[in-house]
Amino acid sequence: MTEIREMARVTLFGSRNTSKGAAFEPARDIPSLAGKVVLITGAAGDLGRNTAIQLARYGRPARIYVADLPRDDDAKTAVALRITYEAYGEVSADTKAAGPLTEIRYLDLDLSSLESVRKCAADFVALEQRLDILYLNAGIIRVAPGMTAEDYEIHFGINYLGHALLSRLLMPTMLRTIQQQPDVRIVIVSSEGHVIAPKGGIDFNKLKTNGADIPYAKRYGQSKVALLCLTRELTREYPQINVVAIHPGRILTGMATSLQKESMLARWTKPIAPLFCVPVLIGIQNHLWAATSSNVVSGTYYEPVGVPGTRSDAAKDELLSKRLREWTEDALSWIKSLE
Ligand SMILES: NC(=O)c1ccc[n+]([C@@H]2O[C@H](COP(=O)([O-])OP(=O)(O)OC[C@H]3O[C@@H](n4cnc5c(N)ncnc54)[C@H](OP(=O)(O)O)[C@@H]3O)[C@@H](O)[C@H]2O)c1
Repeated sequence: MTEIREMARVTLFGSRNTSKGAAFEPARDIPSLAGKVVLITGAAGDLGRNTAIQLARYGRPARIYVADLPRDDDAKTAVALRITYEAYGEVSADTKAAGPLTEIRYLDLDLSSLESVRKCAADFVALEQRLDILYLNAGIIRVAPGMTAEDYEIHFGINYLGHALLSRLLMPTMLRTIQQQPDVRIVIVSSEGHVIAPKGGIDFNKLKTNGADIPYAKRYGQSKVALLCLTRELTREYPQINVVAIHPGRILTGMATSLQKESMLARWTKPIAPLFCVPVLIGIQNHLWAATSSNVVSGTYYEPVGVPGTRSDAAKDELLSKRLREWTEDALSWIKSLE
């Protein structure tokens, strides 16, 4: 009962932080990203794709990599063309005169397979010498109980473990980039849903099960707690990099569609969902702010827009982060670095 009450509270009212923060206007607030390279996981999805569009339109980094589930070549090209078209429309001489357009490239990434994550990172470093902004954005919510290719609970494996590996494999490239320019960032997309997690934040005994006996909200929540722990550990280990975690707000995206398929509560609240959700262009403001604002403080979890968020006790627990780091090192110990 407490579980259902808590889910309803977070679904309807969000976490305790009700501040909306500063308005972020992409046209005014995105600085030039000329020459920079960006990689966004899950950028075929709604928040990732729209983030790519706004960064391309106003910041014009050299390249944005869309790292998302493998598709056939036509579908990959369609994703890249859609982002380019939505960023620039029909490209005119005026558009080109404002500077080089961002090239959008697709990378295959299946976060439910650590082999696929390694291959994605290897493909990236074969193409690029630098990485200025890394978004760990892809995510799933409420899928049927299941496990990843390496037998981890599916939410934890995709939302956290695959991303932990990706950031580890790309770290040498980011550290090299710092030699060229000092502002390298990792934006970790967590969620206010992290407040709904098993007791203690992460149920380590169940991470190598399908999690069928843990309610889905808690499986999602613990994966998002883990991302806040990852934020803390990366900040501690790499003080030269800006690492921030964000909650984007509540937005009707592909994620809401999959939630409605599985959750009775989400189906019941569907007719009124637009009343407590924001449009995608509002929902990406925290993504854009975190990657570009000079006010970002490394190690902080921000709710929209740029407001230090309310973390659960588990998310504040340094011992939990340390335990997760050790668990992760062990889980990933068989994967060789790329260099
Ligand atoms: N929307 C919200 O209200 C909300 C609230 C809090 C936090 N968030 C977070 O925001 C992030 C973006 O979500 P969204 O709302 O934009 O949802 P979305 O539209 O469903 O996008 C999620 C993306 O992740 C991709 N993905 C799923 N499984 C993957 C895998 N195994 N490997 C690689 N990519 C995979 C999806 O690919 P396919 O489309 O091909 O399946 C999709 O492109 C998520 O981390 C989510 O937890 C969203």
